[in-house]
Amino acid sequence: MEVVIVPDAAAGGELVATAMADLLGRKPDALLGVATGSTPLPVYRALAARVRAGEADVSRARICQLDEYVGLPAGHPESYRSVVLREVVEPLGLSPDSFMGPDGGAEDVPAACAAYDRALAEAGGVDLQLLGIGTDGHIGFNEPCSSLASRTRIKTLTEQTRQDNARFFDGIDDVPHHVITQGIGTILEARHLVLLATGEAKAEAVALAVEGPVAAVVPASALQLHPHATVVVDEAAASRLKLAGYFRATYAAKPSWQGL
Ligand code: F6R
Repeated sequence: MEVVIVPDAAAGGELVATAMADLLGRKPDALLGVATGSTPLPVYRALAARVRAGEADVSRARICQLDEYVGLPAGHPESYRSVVLREVVEPLGLSPDSFMGPDGGAEDVPAACAAYDRALAEAGGVDLQLLGIGTDGHIGFNEPCSSLASRTRIKTLTEQTRQDNARFFDGIDDVPHHVITQGIGTILEARHLVLLATGEAKAEAVALAVEGPVAAVVPASALQLHPHATVVVDEAAASRLKLAGYFRATYAAKPSWQGL
């Protein structure tokens, strides 16, 4: 696992946008897995700015969702489908056909979950999966004690996650209890995992995920099992890392041709 400490959220956004643009340079139809929430927004804005400036070609990129609320009405502005279309697909100038996600409105939720895992595999697998991290250590919506081998399925959000996400709704009562999320086993199949964390509120979860044991109680610790995992953290999110000095020195000495 590589840990890169950047000065702030904007620098993290630029770094991850560079990794995505470089990937699309090598593989123009790469499948990019995107997270929602606040943390990845600087990435999407940085990538869209490069597209507008003619510095990146994302025209053949394919986008896939990580997770989705269950039961929000179709077109709800906070459904992750709406968020990804608004924050990623439209700003990058892509068509909705380039985008796939699980069906949070399905009558048969288990069938929709299995169909999404199949669709990801049929699309050739995710090339780069961007992840955020919950204050409780979740990735996607794999809450603590999710199986490290889990596939896409329905999960129940913790009270902490519902409180954290209440800011996107009129209040906590409007935050759905249930979600569909790619499982940890599904996420681990992506070729490159990039976890981005910013702000002091994530420092404890980041330290446990990076420097603690691999344990289902900290779902993000599963990244330790992946052969190509990159954790990009700002100074605040890095503030509890015991090995911060080593991570800084390693990145400073990294050959520039290597990329993330
Ligand atoms: C959302 C997702 C979640 C978020 C996490 C952090 O698609 O996968 O794991 O990344 O809850 O959310 P923010 O970035 O809003 O703090």
